[in-house]
This record gives sequence, structure tokens and C-alpha cells, in this order.
Amino acid sequence: MNKENAFKKINELRKKLSEHNYRYYVLSQPVISDYDYDVMLKELETLEKEFPEFADPNSPTKRVGSDISNDFTQVTHNYPMLSLGNTYNKNELLDFDKRVKNIIGNNTPFKYTCELKFDGTAVSIKYENGKYLQAITRGDGTKGDDVTANVRTIRSIPLILRGNDFPDKFEVRGEIIMPHKVFEKLNKEREEIGETPFANPRNAASGTLKMKNSSEVAKRNLDTFIYYMLGDNLPSDSHFENLKNLKKWGFKISNHIKQANDINEIFDFINHWDTERNNLPYDIDGVVIKVDSLSLQNELGMTGKSPRWAISYKFKAECVATKLNSVEYQVGRTGAITPVANLEPVQLAGTIVKRASLHNADIIKELDVRISDTVFVEKGGEIIPKIVGVDKSKRDISSKKIEYITCCPECKTELVREEGEAKHYCPNEYGCPPQIKGKVEHFVSRNAMDINCGEATINALYQAGFIKNIADLYDLTYEQIYSLEGFKEKSAKNLLKSIEDSKKVPFERVLYAIGIRYVGNITAKVLAKNLQSIDNLQKASFEELTAVDEIGDKIAGSIINYFKNEYNIQLIERLKNAGLQFKITENEENENILNGAKIVISGTFKKHSREELKKLIEQYGGKNVSSVSKNTDYFLAGEKIGPSKLEKVKKFGIKKISEDEFTEMINKNRIS
Ligand code: IVH
Repeated sequence: MNKENAFKKINELRKKLSEHNYRYYVLSQPVISDYDYDVMLKELETLEKEFPEFADPNSPTKRVGSDISNDFTQVTHNYPMLSLGNTYNKNELLDFDKRVKNIIGNNTPFKYTCELKFDGTAVSIKYENGKYLQAITRGDGTKGDDVTANVRTIRSIPLILRGNDFPDKFEVRGEIIMPHKVFEKLNKEREEIGETPFANPRNAASGTLKMKNSSEVAKRNLDTFIYYMLGDNLPSDSHFENLKNLKKWGFKISNHIKQANDINEIFDFINHWDTERNNLPYDIDGVVIKVDSLSLQNELGMTGKSPRWAISYKFKAECVATKLNSVEYQVGRTGAITPVANLEPVQLAGTIVKRASLHNADIIKELDVRISDTVFVEKGGEIIPKIVGVDKSKRDISSKKIEYITCCPECKTELVREEGEAKHYCPNEYGCPPQIKGKVEHFVSRNAMDINCGEATINALYQAGFIKNIADLYDLTYEQIYSLEGFKEKSAKNLLKSIEDSKKVPFERVLYAIGIRYVGNITAKVLAKNLQSIDNLQKASFEELTAVDEIGDKIAGSIINYFKNEYNIQLIERLKNAGLQFKITENEENENILNGAKIVISGTFKKHSREELKKLIEQYGGKNVSSVSKNTDYFLAGEKIGPSKLEKVKKFGIKKISEDEFTEMINKNRIS
């Protein structure tokens, strides 16, 4: 394809993909299959690779993020990000209404806009000439972190606006949220590797937004609602109308917005959402009431850090009383014990609740809760209800103190509790059934070995005595699998093939799959890149491990511990003999030519943009750092560099390299 045609085709594909993206993620009305979308995306990717001169940061292909480390520079907001005054009390809303009327005059007609108060994390996003430009977190309200690369991966954020009647420059404010379904899946994955699950979707959303690696953010499926527009040439004086315009340009605006003419209509809105919120697929913690007219908003101004023209009414977490019948103990995949309360069934926030988490022994003690007590159960930001208190006035003599278990309910091993840890653990890592099955489930999961084998099959294989650990999977025979209920010739062969295929899975995923505590998929990637083989990892000292960027004491300690255990050494040996990948391949090795070298880019360049150089540095295993220090390894020098900078380079004895020397460096050892 010639350049001209390629350019046309690229633009056509980008337009189409962006339209389908909008239909899927903003309107929830897709008109093509996921498969067709992927085919189109692949085609665009191929063309963009072939014609890099047409690269565009806002191309739909850029939604997948990249492995370049975000450095989150601080940016000053054009307009400060205010907070909202809030109340739990309807009388205070009457006061708010009075205050507003007092200032703007009792005879001026005006409207309120009522919105949901989304429980996530706020961002401010700039657009210029219809294009996504920059996203900043709230920070302290005056300055926030630049999270442009991460927010770009959120599919419901438009990168190119629809239509053409938008102002040249404007900003939107909105909430980044994590829907319940995404949150539950993420926490399940975290528990699998022994990481603490997020307490609620809000923490998960803000934690995700601050991740170093935007390609990881892309996988987390965040969502967004935009709720405010700022700028000089806004389309209307009405906030409500501005939101309608934003919707037209492709932004995701909630459908649950109402205009209210008086306080009673506001109360109707609140009452409706106080119960209806239980049916939303994401968390809200209240409603926001805004004076609709921007000129009136201006007139009302602000007090301290919040505007006088808006207020939030927060919902009280719903709380009910019920009887605690008994306590049972669950053993998680990592051996963590969780006490669970069996309750007299009770209606709470739209569902019938029969169980609630009691978290750990300390919480039981703190609450002083006893069997047959009347307890208060609450559903807050968390999905699983929790016991928040005891109605001691209702306690009778039959109530029984809870004796916390000392042995594992599954394998009877004595429990341990490490210093500083809230939870008790069953230490019988390789003999306790839920821990064994949990390890295998993690091992076969999609981001790990990707073996086609569900929970039920793993359970059946375990019950039949065919597997007791992950290495046993590679000794399974056709006859064994065929003998399981539900398996026929074809399904048995498929499972064997899937196990066989897993031998090609690259080292970084194998390292994640073997389930070293705290070694998640990102950590595994970092370790694989830096240490290159399991043998090197095993030999590495605590100091060598912590010298690797992003590896802290906790992870290093966990790795050292893992290799101290003879059982693990034998497992690895068996997996090696089975043919799994325990070192990075030559191709991957090339990608690590720079071996963690810290490189400062300075000046202007002829052949590459600074952004491209930054990408190359990261791609070949280096680290781009912003300022010269004694720890800098190379100074990648272009033209027009200030003398004081060069002085510093000289003073620290940093090696100075030109653009050509740099490209030579990364091409030198390449095997083409
Ligand atoms: S308006 C000055 N509208 O609530 C008013 N805020 O304290 C700007 N929030 O962290 C905010 N839903 O992120 C507004 N529909 C909504 C909102 C909303 C959630 C959050 C916002 C901020 C906090 C305000």
C-alpha cells in the first residue's frame, strides 16, 4: 500500500473503531461483534506499525496502554478542584436552599440539577481542538498528578470528540469508578497471589489510577461518569444543557440526572435513589444538588474550599439488627482464616443477608460479640456486609463467648499468627485441601499457564487423588482424565493438549503461575526481565533482589523464603523436567540490552522525538529519568543543551552519548 492510501485507510479505521468504541462503552449498544472489532483493530495496528509517521497518541490502538513507567509529574489545575459541603440531614438541605435564595434574591427564578454522587476518584481532563490532551487527579485541589496515560486506557473516555461545535479548549470533571463486577474479579485475583484485597471499589479505582504501568490499568476495566464542564466558551449558561452537549460529543454522562424546581422535587430524587441505589452496578454514596445556572453559580461563589452553589446529601449506610446464630471459619487459598458469621436471615439494601464477615480475631474481641447476640449489620462501600456493633441491651444469659479456633478446620494443623498480621494462617501450605486446590487454580488461570481447566475439574482431579500439587498436572494420563465424571474422549484429549501447550508459556508467566507470595504478574515481569532465569532468582541474595527497581523488602523476603523450602525446589525441578520455560528466550534477552541503566534525555534530536527515545529506552530495559544525578548512567545528548546541565554531567562523570551512539547501542547485540 502506498503512503497516501495507507493514510486514508488508517483514518477510516480510526474513525470506525472510535465509533464502535463509543457505541459499546458509552451507549452500551454495540452493533458489531467483539471479534469483528478485534479484526479491525489488528488491521489498524499493522498499518500503524508499517507507517509510523502517522502515529497518533489518540488512536484507538493506544487504549491498551504501554509498559513505560509513569512518573506522575505534578500539574497545577487551571481551575482549582473544589470539594463539596455535605450533609446527612434533610433540614440542612432546607438551610442550603434558603441560603441560596437569600444571596440571589427571592424573586429570581432558578433551577437545581440533581445528580448521583459517584463513589470513585475525581479527575480533571483537558481537551483541545476536540482531542484528549491531559488528565490530572484531584491531588490537594490546587495541584494534582498527571495521569494522562492511564486515563487514556479507559474506554468510556473519548479521545476524539464527535461533531464539531465544541469549544477549542475546555475541561471536564468526572469520577473514575470501578463497577462491582470488575471489583469482585480483581479482588479474587489478588487473593490468589496472597495480596490484600481492596477494601472497596473506591480504593480499587484510585489505586488503579496511580499504577505505574498503563497497560495494567487497561486490563482493569475502569469506567467513568463526567459531571461538570469548565472553560471560556461554554455552549450554555445551564449546567444541565452543558452536560447534554458533553453527551452529544461522546462523553459518558449519567442517565440519572433530574432538574428540580424546588426543594420538594429534590427530596423526591433523594428518596428514590436512597433505595434504588441498591440496583446500580456501581457504588454511589449520595446525591449532589447544584444550582443549574452558571452565572448564578458565579454569583454565589464559594466559602473556604467548597462552592456555595452545590451540596451533597450523603446516604447513611443501611444498618439492620439481627441474631448471630453461629460462627464458621473459612480457609482461603493462601491459608488465611476468615471468621464468618451465620445470621438469622434479614433484608438489607435490597438483598437477604445470611452471612457477614467478622474479619479476624481482633475484630471479634473489639466488638465483644457473642453467639446468640443481636448484632447490627451494615452494607457500606464494601460488597460483603459486615457486623458493626452489638445491641448489648438485648444480650441474655444464653449468649456464648466466641472461642477462636486454634486448628485449621480443613486439615487440623495448628494455626499460626505472624507478628503484625491481623489474620491467623494455616501453615500446612502443601497438605491443606483448599490451599492445594487454590494453588492449582491460580497456576492454570488465564494470566498464568492458561490451561483450560475449571474449578470443578481441579476438584475432581484432587478428589480422585490424581493431583496434589501443580507438577502433578504434567503427569496426568489420558486414562485418568477420561475416568472423571463428565469427561469423554474429546474433552480428555483437549485438556491434555492444553497442558502440553502450556509448556510454551514464557518464563515471566511461569514465574507468576508458581505462586510465590506477593509475586503478582507485574512483579513477575520485572523479575524475569532483571534476573532472566529461575536459577538466577534462586541464587539471588536479599540485597541483590531489593536492588532491582520496584522490588521491596516484603517481596524479596518472600522469594528467599520460597527457595528455602525443599518442597518448592523439588516442584521446580519436576516442572523443569516437564519442559516448562524457566528462563527468558533470546528474543526477550535482546529487549534487556540496557539492563536497567538510568538515562537522562536532553536537548533536541534529529531522528527521533523525545517520546520515541523514551519508549526505546524502556523497551530495551533501561529507565528514563528526568534529572541528572550521581546515579545517572548515561546522558543522551541532543542539540541545544544548557551549559549548567553539561557541567553537572561532567561533575558526576556521567557517560555522554549521542543519538546515533544510542541507536547503535540498542542495535548492537540484536539477532535479526
Ligand atoms: S461536582 C465543586 N458532581 O464528590 C463541585 N462531584 O466533594 C465539583 N462527586 O471528589 C464536584 N459525583 O469527585 C460533583 N455528580 C457529581 C459527583 C461529584 C461524585 C465527587 C467528586 C468530589 C466529591 C466532591
